[in-house]
Amino acid sequence: MEELPLYSALKKQEKLSRISFHTPGHKNNSKFQAIDFFKLDYTELPGTDSLYDAHTVIKKSEELMSKLFESKQTIFSAGGCTLCIQAMLKLALPYGGKIIASRMIHKSAVNTMAILNAKVKWVIPNINQSSGQFEQVDTAEIEKALFYNRDASCVYVTSPDYFGKIADIKSIAKVCKSYNVSLIVDNAHGTHLKFLPKDIHPITLGADIVADSAHKTLPVLTGGALLHIANKKYISKAKESMAIFGSTSPSYPIMASLDVCRDWLSKNGREAYSKLEKNILKIKDVALKKCILDDFENVDPIRLSLNTAKVGVLGIDAAEYFRKNEVEPELADRDRVVFIATPLNSDDDLAKLKSLIINFSSNKAIKNYIPIFEEPIVAKTLHEAMFSQSEKISSANSVGRICASTVCPCPPGIPILVPGEVITENSVQNLLHYGILSIDVIK
Ligand SMILES: Cc1ncc(COP(=O)(O)O)c(C=O)c1O
Repeated sequence: MEELPLYSALKKQEKLSRISFHTPGHKNNSKFQAIDFFKLDYTELPGTDSLYDAHTVIKKSEELMSKLFESKQTIFSAGGCTLCIQAMLKLALPYGGKIIASRMIHKSAVNTMAILNAKVKWVIPNINQSSGQFEQVDTAEIEKALFYNRDASCVYVTSPDYFGKIADIKSIAKVCKSYNVSLIVDNAHGTHLKFLPKDIHPITLGADIVADSAHKTLPVLTGGALLHIANKKYISKAKESMAIFGSTSPSYPIMASLDVCRDWLSKNGREAYSKLEKNILKIKDVALKKCILDDFENVDPIRLSLNTAKVGVLGIDAAEYFRKNEVEPELADRDRVVFIATPLNSDDDLAKLKSLIINFSSNKAIKNYIPIFEEPIVAKTLHEAMFSQSEKISSANSVGRICASTVCPCPPGIPILVPGEVITENSVQNLLHYGILSIDVIK
């Protein structure tokens, strides 16, 4: 038989039948809606509409989604949240324009800003000096940046972050309005926030444009994402902006999974998420008693982030403990291990996770790694640096060179360096800590 490396690896993963606390949110549950998506893999035909020129069935599906999320317009993406972020930036930021952005940012946004030749005023979130955890961006810092950068076209915030930390979108939106500047939010990790007992989706809280990575926390095929628009001025160009970056063959199964998910959400979403929230809060309570819960306040109630270094176990070792016990987390780093639960996880899945946390054995605390993120030294614009001739060199020998590509370990989801920035001793320390041994620099 011919070798099938990828297919075999996926079949192997399936055979392990670990409980999924990672993306995608459908948890490979083939019983959910029992749809054979292979059979739905069509293309643009007379009856199937066309994503970027939608007039019939895709348009109707998007309108129903928009109604559910109470946006002015919602657009499907089969190219993930990345495509929504690209479109959102193209809409809100003119070529060469200025943007105020939290440094907690996905690399797709930085790369798009580079393509758009943006001038970026970074707002660096604070770091908690005992846990090493990045705080969410502060409203007062955004306001200060708006005051000193009157030529900014928009403010860009990522909320929630990987660990579930939520920014005060309501107050940030208010400040942005007072400066007549749009607020755009990367809500990749928070599509489900709409369906919690307290709706804290950024569209509800006053953002102008929001990008949702639906496949991360909802039962949607990987790649399924949503671009929500609340500010009418962006509607006319929205599809066009997405089409610039997207494939001309968006996957119909992915789009259909968004449609099916919407139907399920409208009937079951609130009840399902309110039950899930109650169950996860019980698990968080156990984790709190074991002294490994990262945070209780200003976090997504569903996201579970355990700071295992606090009790002497490296996050990557803790992840192995969970894997050995048939539970697959979303991610782990030196200090933490993170779990994504959705209503597609059964009561048994949650009971298993809870019992593994109850039985988690601790050790002597390991000090959390405290990164140092200083105000970056900018030598070239994002655009110029990203499109310059570059070479790969060892990170250890890179002090003083100019970075040529975005270096963003996930977690923590904050770029250590973006194109055009000078590499410092601190950046090298962070690079080596996150295991980044080589780096692309300008020749
Ligand atoms: C904060 C954040 N934004 C955007 C993305 C991109 O989402 P997608 O994988 O759906 O393109 C990710 C993916 O991990 C993310 O963590």
